[in-house]
Amino acid sequence: MRVLSGIQPTGPFHWGNYFGAIRQYIELQDVATESYFFIANLHALNTVRDKAKLGEYTLNGAMDLLALGLNPEKAVLFVQSDVPEVSELCWLLMTGTPMGLLERCVSYKDKIAKGLKADAGLFTYPVLQAADILAYDADVVPVGEDQLQHIEVCRDIAGSFNHHFGETFVMPKGKVLDQSAKVPGTDGEKMSKSYNNTLAVFDEEKKQRKSIMRIQTDSRPMEDPKDPSADILMDLYKLVATEAEVAEMSELYRKGGFGYGTVKTALADAAQRYWEEPRARRAEFAAKPEMVREILAAGAEKARAKARAVLKRAQDACGVKGW
Ligand code: ADP
Ligand code: TRP
Repeated sequence: MRVLSGIQPTGPFHWGNYFGAIRQYIELQDVATESYFFIANLHALNTVRDKAKLGEYTLNGAMDLLALGLNPEKAVLFVQSDVPEVSELCWLLMTGTPMGLLERCVSYKDKIAKGLKADAGLFTYPVLQAADILAYDADVVPVGEDQLQHIEVCRDIAGSFNHHFGETFVMPKGKVLDQSAKVPGTDGEKMSKSYNNTLAVFDEEKKQRKSIMRIQTDSRPMEDPKDPSADILMDLYKLVATEAEVAEMSELYRKGGFGYGTVKTALADAAQRYWEEPRARRAEFAAKPEMVREILAAGAEKARAKARAVLKRAQDACGVKGW
């Protein structure tokens, strides 16, 4: 099984990104025969149009993944734009991609439906994603449900290229990540950068504690018993506390007679303990950015070797090389 996935560097990773995606990618590095994970900076360029920010998010994203346990000896970690073969492959794929296929893609369709103007980068975004996947002969692509449409587009593109020019690409399959427990943000909505309600994984302790203290709660009287299975604080607590702590807190909810301040303090303490080790590792990487750049350069070299071979196969197949 050759696993591949990408994550966009559009801002600091939050708890939703970690529990809904990153943790699951990292687990795959132990079961895959080969795994490729990259920072999708070319995709992010569609939204982050600030040179300094894009660079900062890219390097920080790599440091975050390493601190969270991505092991460059098991998985190939690289930056998307360090493999120019992918952009070249993207063009070959683009020539055979029907406009209608891209017009049906939600990210583009939604923007147009809202009366907003879209760039060609957003419109052709799924073709670049297809090139990302096909360039490494990936057969399993772990993604959130929202990305499944792009995997289907990739399969359509690969299928029609193979049909037209002969077997060239490996047909990938999407593997839906477990996001059944959507991580709630500080306002109770789904945690997302776009809603400004995130708890960043690598915020320093004081800042994280402050954000936790600001989580919106209801104004039911303290003495009322409460349902622990329908509560933002409990949902977050379950992610970072031990089973025994969760059982104890659930009991307290059912009994009533507590203030949300107590729960927030317990949540902040559990979060501090949960993130302590990755934060220490993160600080080590931050002190040695050159080491991180070396890891990324070595990853890009490995990724390029694979992408070069696949690009050559595609070029030969369609007649732009080997004539
Ligand atoms: P954001 O909504 O903050 O922009 P992204 O769309 O970049 O996050 O998401 C990156 C990955 O993290 C995706 O696989 C996405 O489904 C997952 N993810 C984001 N927010 C959450 C959440 N609140 N709960 C579970 N998974 C999430
Ligand atoms: N579009 C994906 C996202 O926003 C990121 C991505 C880019 C990706 N290329 C990919 C994911 C290839 C899987 C495979 O989450």
